[in-house]
Amino acid sequence: MSCPRPPALTRRAFIVSAAAASAGAMLPPQPNARAAGRREFRLRAGQSRAQIAPEPYGDTAVWCYDGSLPGPEIRVRQGERLRIAVENALGEETTVHWHGVRVPNAMDGVPHLTQAPIAPGETFTYEFSAVDAGTFWYHPHQRSFEQVGRGLYGPLIVEEADPIQADRDVTWVLSDWRLTRSAEMRDDFGNRHDMMHNGRIGNTVTINGRVPDVFPVRKGERIRLRLINAANARIFGLDFGGHEPVVIAFDGQPVEPHVPAGGLVVLGSGMRADIVLDMTADAGSRISVTDRFYKDLEYRLVDLAYGNEPLRAATLDTPVALPPNPLPEPDLASAARHEITFNGGMMGAMVMQQMGGSMGESSSDGGMMGGMGSMMDMMHSGGIWFVNGVAAEGHVMEPMLTLARDRSHVIAMTNATAWHHPTHLHGHSFRVISRNGQPTRHREWQDTVLMAPRERVEIAFVADNPGHWMLHCHILEHQAAGMMGVFRVV
Ligand code: C2O
Ligand code: CU
Repeated sequence: MSCPRPPALTRRAFIVSAAAASAGAMLPPQPNARAAGRREFRLRAGQSRAQIAPEPYGDTAVWCYDGSLPGPEIRVRQGERLRIAVENALGEETTVHWHGVRVPNAMDGVPHLTQAPIAPGETFTYEFSAVDAGTFWYHPHQRSFEQVGRGLYGPLIVEEADPIQADRDVTWVLSDWRLTRSAEMRDDFGNRHDMMHNGRIGNTVTINGRVPDVFPVRKGERIRLRLINAANARIFGLDFGGHEPVVIAFDGQPVEPHVPAGGLVVLGSGMRADIVLDMTADAGSRISVTDRFYKDLEYRLVDLAYGNEPLRAATLDTPVALPPNPLPEPDLASAARHEITFNGGMMGAMVMQQMGGSMGESSSDGGMMGGMGSMMDMMHSGGIWFVNGVAAEGHVMEPMLTLARDRSHVIAMTNATAWHHPTHLHGHSFRVISRNGQPTRHREWQDTVLMAPRERVEIAFVADNPGHWMLHCHILEHQAAGMMGVFRVV
């Protein structure tokens, strides 16, 4: 089994769309199933090799789906029913989580909590409906810091019945890798230093599994770009160099089209954004896309390379707003309120001391552990990260919150750490309603919200999906080191 090579568009070939590279690897939909609005897929999790680093480096041993990096793009229409048989050809247990898709609990792919893990050699079939249109992705939830980190992930795209007008619909799965000088995977997964700090930040950044060079475009072209951050830990802040990225969806959910602050598209791990890019620069020009998220560590991700022939003289002016998905609207007036505090990591005690004064009131809710003493208690427990004072070990635990079904809930989340945490809730999308007490401008729907150090973020949603659902940091080393909890919806 070898990873298929993308069509050579340039010398250092660059995948325009994961679909193009992996179409051959996907089982064709059964004609009958398709007529019935049902789509059948197979995914095989196994070992393979992939050309991650550019030549003259050699290829790298990876774990991936169907021998393809990223895994095959699963693309369906909104309302279709998916049946996906996942075969485990790895040497260890696995599961698949359909990140952002509002699936029934038993299809959520959380080992032991929602299903028995898929043993080596076994197959498990997931079945759910694509209720929301949007950009989603799939990945294991079993030892994900290593399984995702070695390459097990792929895009899941749900098309609207009536998509917006664009010349191309392109998926960029972003990731990074920690490679040795000979392009082998460094196998220090889950080391304590990564767990306590930023997580496993790699030294080689890829788009669709390869270090990109150029992305060919044409003047006047309109591209719908679906960005997926599949990295274990890296946060991206993409600057499109003079192009205005118009965000039309976050985490698959439509948002009022807008250019984000500073023109920077920021994505913590697990997060997605759909952007509309109008190609407004001159024919023949070359413009860099730069990742500016980490201060003083900017780098050129890829160049947009304009062909010499414009596609059209002026850019399109058709509307780009997406139709809403069928999400229940939370009622803030009647919502039940809950508090969650995230603690721990390096410098955690210092941050807690600094924040201690202003957050005393939440301690009655069991939310906030006060002061240096309790931080020491927590650290002595052996955990590194804590949600409401508890460091998770594995996925099975007492629910930290029980949410009344079909009711509205507001959850105030306080990041009492010195680090960013992209925090993901399973089974639901939520509105981000405020940050540090300020109402958000777009009240965006998300399934993963990036919390800055010391930030307090309020989210709201209707708990309409019964079952046990994870809430965790999507920096996979933080998750593995305790930053995880369970909500029960009954
Ligand atoms: Cu994308 Cu619980 O994960
Ligand atoms: Cu985190």
